[in-house]
Formats: sequence, structure tokens, C-alpha cells
Amino acid sequence: MTSATAGKPIECVAAVAYEAGKPLTVEKIIVDAPKAHEVRVQVTHTAVCHTDAYTLSGVDPEGAFPSILGHEGAGIVESVGDGVTNVKVGDHVVLLYTAECGKCKFCKSNKTNLCGSVRATQGKGVMPDGTTRFHNLKGEPLLHFMGCSTFSQYTVVADVSLVTIDPSAPLSSVCLLGCGVTTGYGAAVKTANVQEGDTVAVFGAGTVGLSVVQGAKSRGASKIIVVDVNDQKKQWSMDFGATGFVNPLKDLKEGETIVSKLIDMTDGGLDFTFDCTGNVKVMRDALEACHKGWGQSIIIGVAAAGEEISTRPFQLITGRVWKGSAFGGIKGRSEMGQLVTSYQKGDLKVDDFITHKRPFTEINNAFEDLHHGDCLRTVLDLAN
Ligand SMILES: NC(=O)c1ccc[n+]([C@@H]2O[C@H](COP(=O)([O-])OP(=O)(O)OC[C@H]3O[C@@H](n4cnc5c(N)ncnc54)[C@H](O)[C@@H]3O)[C@@H](O)[C@H]2O)c1
Ligand SMILES: [Zn+2]
Ligand SMILES: [Zn+2]
Repeated sequence: MTSATAGKPIECVAAVAYEAGKPLTVEKIIVDAPKAHEVRVQVTHTAVCHTDAYTLSGVDPEGAFPSILGHEGAGIVESVGDGVTNVKVGDHVVLLYTAECGKCKFCKSNKTNLCGSVRATQGKGVMPDGTTRFHNLKGEPLLHFMGCSTFSQYTVVADVSLVTIDPSAPLSSVCLLGCGVTTGYGAAVKTANVQEGDTVAVFGAGTVGLSVVQGAKSRGASKIIVVDVNDQKKQWSMDFGATGFVNPLKDLKEGETIVSKLIDMTDGGLDFTFDCTGNVKVMRDALEACHKGWGQSIIIGVAAAGEEISTRPFQLITGRVWKGSAFGGIKGRSEMGQLVTSYQKGDLKVDDFITHKRPFTEINNAFEDLHHGDCLRTVLDLAN
């Protein structure tokens, strides 16, 4: 099967990031046909994640402009370049900022999901051949972002950067599996591999932290304590399976620290803690709240450029372990299908994170939504 537009450039609407710190410009752009081992996708839905906002803010020294941001998205394959065998026209797909080629040493290892196949070019905002498939109507090239660029009605990605999913799963929901939900859930069930009876603390109850909570709950954790500075997150935390909630700005007695409180609540500390804030001070607290001898702390939050973590080495000598997790340790092409199935069976919550829905033209409002405590995710419908 081929589409009428196959092999030809497509004119469509995109939200272009021309400059750091400025709103996106919603305008028509041209999306070239996919080259060998590339796929052109009609993006139907995308959400806005903090990494998009971070890059747009200009704080990220690696952020390059003009570019098409967006990495939490899903859509339908419009056409494929030569040599593409893993997807076909009409397939429903989730885009993957963590590629999976299946051939590199990372993919062959069962210890990591950090595929190296497109990493260098993806970081530079170009396709593996070093060029871009996007340009504006003035003919100026526009860069790709995180190998996805979902803020466009059509995008071109490497064939290792997307996965076909069950077409009966609503794209308006499963787009969230492209980043936040998978990241938190995977960090709990894969990176940490939480077991029945384990005690868990989650710092930061955004989409990522709440997904850690649901992962820990699915494993039968005995205690799941959420730590967040925003009281509005308490109800959500409990709904997702938390057994306790602490607001360190309000719930500490004199002389108490969040670390001492958590240690008291858990008879010596937690089996697993997760940083889902990106704050390096929180990362230290999360490590130090771990149980002596075996507690593990998983860093998920992305700290601002130049930030460093610190603790006393004695914390590690006495058995605490500091780890990190990207995309929840999930290998996108091999493991996304299981997540979609879990969602369809009702075991993995996804819809509950969609607090806002907007037409694509309101994308700049979606960036503002991110800063409000009542927003987990805003899903944009690119057909509107
Ligand atoms: N490692 C990865 O692969 C990956 C993927 C996606 C997102 N992330 C990162 O994960 C983090 C969380 O993402 P999100 O979408 O859930 O963000 P979010 O902003 O929706 O949630 C963060 C939460 O942390 C809380 N918080 C802030 N400061 C705090 C503090 N000092 N103590 C306790 N709670 C605090 C906020 O109130 C908020 O509820 C971000 O840093 C994001 O960049 C990492
Ligand atoms: Zn993200
Ligand atoms: Zn690989």
C-alpha cells in the first residue's frame, strides 16, 4: 500500500521554535519525503513535556534553533523510505526518542536501553545522513528534535525511532507512552525492579512520579510515600496508589528533615527512592533516605545544565546505591507493545494523566499549562 503523497514533499502546519525564550510560531512548513531507512509519520496527537519547555527556555546549552520540538507523540505511518521493513503505511505508531536498532552493543546488552545507532545525529537535530527533512516556506531549514519532532502534522524519523502498536489503542492516549508514563513506570518495574513488600518513596508527583507510584503499586510495594511541595498532588498520589504523602514545606516538625522523617516512617529507610523533580538537593535527600545496606535511589529528574550531585561517600560505603534511568530503561521497539496491552487491560493508567486537551493551534497555552499545579499533561490534537 502507498499513499498519494508518497515520495513528494508535504505542506502542513507545525509549531516552529525560532528562538529561545519566545513562543512557538504556528505556521505552514514543508516536510520532505523520507530517505532510506526513514519513515514519514502523520502525527495525530502529542503532549508537551518538560524537556520541550526546558529546551525552548534556552537554558539547555545543547538546544538548537530554529527547530521543531516535541517528543511525546503518536500517529500513523504516511510513507516509508527504501529499506524500511519494521513498519508499513497505515501502521499506528508511537515515536521513540530512545531508539532501538537491535544491533549495537547497547541494544545487544540486557543492561541498558541506550541505543547508540542515531545518538550523535539526533543530538545535533539532524537525520542520520546529517541533513534535515523540514524547511519553512522561505526555504530555511528547520532542525529535528530528540529524533521525533512531534510538534508538526507530519514528521520524518529514523526507522529505529518508532514502534508499531495495536491500532485499537487510542492514539490520543498512547502518545503519553512516548515519554512520561513509560519513564516513571519503567523506572519502578525495570530499573529498580521493585518487589512485593518493598518500601518506596517518590519525590515529585508529576506524570513521571505518579507513574513510578503506579509501577510500585503493580509490584505490591508495602509502602509508597510521595514527597511533593504542592499539596494539590496529594489526592492524585493517593488515587495512583500512594500510601502516604509528605509536604516537606509543611509536614515537618521542628528539627525534623525530610530524610529523618522518611527514615522514621520506614524503620530505618526505604528500599527504593526516586527523584522525579530534577532538583539536585532533592536527589541527595532521596539517596540519604535509603535504607543502609541495600537501599537504592533512582535519579529520573533532569537537572539544569551544569548542576552536580553530592553526598558523603560514607552513604555509598554503607550500602546505598545511586542509579539513573532514561525512558524507564524500556527498550522501545521490543517492550512498548506490552505497555500498550497493560493500558488496554486497565492495568496501566494513562488517561488519568490527561488533565487538559487543546487543538494544536493552542500549543503555546499548553506550555503555560505545564507551570500550573493542576496540570499533568496537555494533549494536543494535530488535526485541529
Ligand atoms: N530520565 C528520563 O528519561 C526523563 C523522561 C521524562 C522526564 N524526565 C524528567 O523527570 C522530571 C519530572 O517530570 P514531570 O513531567 O513529572 O514533571 P512535573 O513538573 O509535572 O512534576 C514535578 C513535581 O515535582 C514537584 N517538586 C518540585 N520541587 C520539589 C521539591 N523540592 N520537593 C518535592 N517535590 C518537588 C512539583 O511540585 C511537581 O509536582 C523532570 O525533571 C523531567 O525533565 C526525565
Ligand atoms: Zn519527555
Ligand atoms: Zn541500538
